[in-house]
Amino acid sequence: MQVTVFSAKLYEHPSLEAAASRHGHTVDFQPLRLYRDTASLALGTPAVSAFVHDILDAETLGLLARQGVRLVALRCAGFNQVDLKAAEKFGVTVARVPAYSPQAVAEHTLALLLALLRKLCRAHNRVREGNFSLDGLLGEGLCGKTAGIVGTGKIGTVVARILNGFGCRLLGYDPAPSTTCEKLGMTYTDLPHLLEASDIVTLHCPLTPGTRHLLGEPEVARMKPGAVLINTSRGAVLDTQAVIRGLKSGRIGALGLDVYEEEDHLFFEDLSGQIIQDDVFARLMTFPNVLITGHQGFFTREALEAIADVTFRNVSEFELTGKCANAIAPARRVSAGSNPKRLART
Ligand code: NAI
Repeated sequence: MQVTVFSAKLYEHPSLEAAASRHGHTVDFQPLRLYRDTASLALGTPAVSAFVHDILDAETLGLLARQGVRLVALRCAGFNQVDLKAAEKFGVTVARVPAYSPQAVAEHTLALLLALLRKLCRAHNRVREGNFSLDGLLGEGLCGKTAGIVGTGKIGTVVARILNGFGCRLLGYDPAPSTTCEKLGMTYTDLPHLLEASDIVTLHCPLTPGTRHLLGEPEVARMKPGAVLINTSRGAVLDTQAVIRGLKSGRIGALGLDVYEEEDHLFFEDLSGQIIQDDVFARLMTFPNVLITGHQGFFTREALEAIADVTFRNVSEFELTGKCANAIAPARRVSAGSNPKRLART
């Protein structure tokens, strides 16, 4: 099957080409994002592949369907960018990669946390300039700290396992508690108590209408003074303005972000020659205790290979059977083994 791959970055070409050829498919790489104005680039191909910032709204899906596209193979787990009802209406199957490497995101979470606690970015910049003074570099340890994990699914559970290894006390907040986390000694509690008791708060829940701005002004005010906040889930789970106020007041001691509410105007592009127009993002970058990466939690060699492999396995399965176990639309094609309640939230 020929697949038009949108938002295709050069670094993905090798893994996607290898997986496509292994599964007997051909690819047409399109560096542009998929949205209504670019949908025609898929003319003549029965399948497209899309990523997190592509816009699969009703208009785009309608255009794709009229061109003969029958499958959208997402190269990601989250699908908040897809109008699933429209996909169903237009008879377009949408499949995703439900889990490729929870370790990749969990390890990146720890990278942000350790870099903040041990002030690695400041230290690195200083050493490069021949400044070996330790003033202002006093760090904090992890052992014995209380870590609050919001969302203990696949990624949150790996984070819990790693933090347990560092000697942290684990608190969790999740409407569907994990027995694996409980076996690690995690105590489940409500969000207000987790925020009051945690030295570190790390977010691993999906973005849904219910989790948008899960941490706003009142929640930030409940946090332990000086706590470290990490978000590698989705930007809008945090109210960025409330977080900025929390940083200014010192309530938040340090902030590590891999995601940002308005990231689709910034992330995955080289804007180094341009003036950043987003004043909220620019303000965040002025804090010495804020560390931001541009949605790279998933970005390991292992994860890219897994994403490519599952994407083209989904294409093969659809080509052979007209169905796909990793389909999220039409809804009835969700595999029997999956938990539809959880899928709907992811
Ligand atoms: P998952 O579905 O395995 O786990 C999510 C957990 O959040 C579930 O246990 C669910 O019950 C829980 N949850 C749902 N609503 C909640 C709420 N209101 N409060 C607390 N917990 C809630 O998902 P997984 O694979 O662990 O991924 C988590 C999120 O990480 C994804 O939804 C995605 O947004 C983000 N992600 C980020 C990546 C990156 O590169 N930074 C890459 C992949 C995922």
